[in-house]
Amino acid sequence: MTILVTGGAGFIGSNFVLDWLAQSQEKVVTLDALTYAGNRENLAILKGDERHHFVHGDIGDRALLDQLLATHQPRAILHFAAESHVDRSIHGPGAFIKTNVEGTFTLLDAARAYWSGLNEDIKGDFRFLHVSTDEVYGSLAPDAPAFTETHPYEPNSPYSASKAASDHLVRAWHHTYGLPVLTTNCSNNYGPFHFPEKLIPLMIVNALAGKPLPVYGDGQQIRDWLYVKDHCSAIRTVLAQGRLGETYNVGGWNEKANIDIVKTVCALLDELRPSSEGPYARLITYVKDRPGHDRRYAIDARKIERELGWRPAETFETGIRKTVQWYLDHPDWVARVQSGAYRDWMEKQYA
Ligand code: NAD
Ligand code: TYD
Repeated sequence: MTILVTGGAGFIGSNFVLDWLAQSQEKVVTLDALTYAGNRENLAILKGDERHHFVHGDIGDRALLDQLLATHQPRAILHFAAESHVDRSIHGPGAFIKTNVEGTFTLLDAARAYWSGLNEDIKGDFRFLHVSTDEVYGSLAPDAPAFTETHPYEPNSPYSASKAASDHLVRAWHHTYGLPVLTTNCSNNYGPFHFPEKLIPLMIVNALAGKPLPVYGDGQQIRDWLYVKDHCSAIRTVLAQGRLGETYNVGGWNEKANIDIVKTVCALLDELRPSSEGPYARLITYVKDRPGHDRRYAIDARKIERELGWRPAETFETGIRKTVQWYLDHPDWVARVQSGAYRDWMEKQYA
């Protein structure tokens, strides 16, 4: 048996592939376009492992998809591939429409053609699992209850709008064509292999380099943080037991204001890698806010717990300590992802 993972060289996808092969003998085919966010080094430990097959390609390439599906006959597609950074979607929304909307459409339609042709005895077991985000629900007032699966879609950024569009396509391919789909809407992840353009890894690598820690606006925006390996276990659970056509919210019950996240990272670095210049919090710098910045996200993860028995294994305190330690232990990975393209982005966004 085989699963096809799109975006498996990115942050969450690579954690998923590594965790999958640590627990299962089932083969994984990874399809990834290796954009700036994709990194084969994340999967380097699998070199020579016959259970893993890497394909460099685009989810928008229909001929490639048809060929991959026919050759590998996966019993499931796990769809992680996306443009994922809100700030980049503000500078250049086109790539988000192309991959998140058009790419998901192409993948869904290829999956439908492949699934339609499967023998009846295996057709019912096929799954298309779409990995999405809580950002599709929009922004919460400070005292509003957390997002449930029935919360209206109110995306506010080009990124979240493109993910919302992809969620709707997945839903429609189920209702119209019967494609056996599952969707997960997860809160903000953090952990190993997180590209240092996102809040937590950016703060770690900037602090270690003695650079400013840019906090947008007043730093009081709230996100609900989940350790990436808990997200991966939730996806495995939904794949195995999720009810067809359902959506499942995934979160860590960890609402934190950005400024508190940054201070926590600083305090951990003060403990684990003290600076001779003094506490890292001295580098905190308030900068211009992100346009359209969502104030608060919070996930009500009771459905996945009630129906499927999933709960996160990490608390924020254990997860963030592991994460900071991972970055301290992997200076070469950090140095290599900070390529010319990364420097160009930092210049454009923070100059
Ligand atoms: P990421 O940006 O780190 O990785 C995305 C991967 O997709 C990269 O390897 C990239 O090369 C690949 N990719 C991009 N365009 C492609 C294309 N056209 N064809 C094939 N591959 C392509 O993203 P991530 O943080 O790992 O997020 C993975 C998924 O999880 C996304 O769908 C994202 O919306 C969703 N998600 C992310 C978070 C989070 O906090 N990071 C939270 C909830 C949901
Ligand atoms: P981010 O990691 O980009 O995730 P998302 O926008 O998808 O939630 O940002 C998390 C929060 O941190 C968000 O409220 C924006 C804020 N932020 C900063 O304050 N400074 C930064 O340099 C970055 C990248 C993010």
